[in-house]
Amino acid sequence: METAKEINAMCKEVLAGAEWASIVTIDRGAPHLVATWGQYVTVYDDKTLLIPAGGYHRTAINLKSNPEMQLFAVSRKVKRPDGSIGQGCLIYGKGAVQTRGKFAGEIKKKYPWARGALVVKVKKVEIQL
Ligand SMILES: Cc1cc2nc3c(=O)[nH]c(=O)nc-3n(C[C@H](O)[C@H](O)[C@H](O)COP(=O)(O)O)c2cc1C
Repeated sequence: METAKEINAMCKEVLAGAEWASIVTIDRGAPHLVATWGQYVTVYDDKTLLIPAGGYHRTAINLKSNPEMQLFAVSRKVKRPDGSIGQGCLIYGKGAVQTRGKFAGEIKKKYPWARGALVVKVKKVEIQL
């Protein structure tokens, strides 16, 4: 399994091609799982993802007590180096739902329904296949 410290080209391709992505946080010791559409994930830079937060209320509370989170996206549109089809990208990061500031402003411009941005600071990326 290939790992990297930042969003690499393969992972960008997976995010762009993914129908949806899962996002897991820790809720009082148990996993809490939510989703986003793949195309809603803005790769702001190689260490930062921005996702529109319309809901994510529990997720925001979870991240305040433990910012560790994981995002998993998969796409069958991505070709692997050996020519076979399908790839997954597991992103480990620290997250926060920001309702004010630069990132929230950018996301609200793009998605007027959003109350803010789920900002993910990437720590590790694992290409799955
Ligand atoms: C395919 C899919 C995409 C979703 N995209 C978003 C999204 O981009 N932003 C969002 O706030 N909620 C999105 N949701 C709803 C969340 O998964 C979640 O149920 C809701 O925000 C409540 O989050 P909470 O349990 O952290 O309060 C999506 C749900 C699905 C099934």
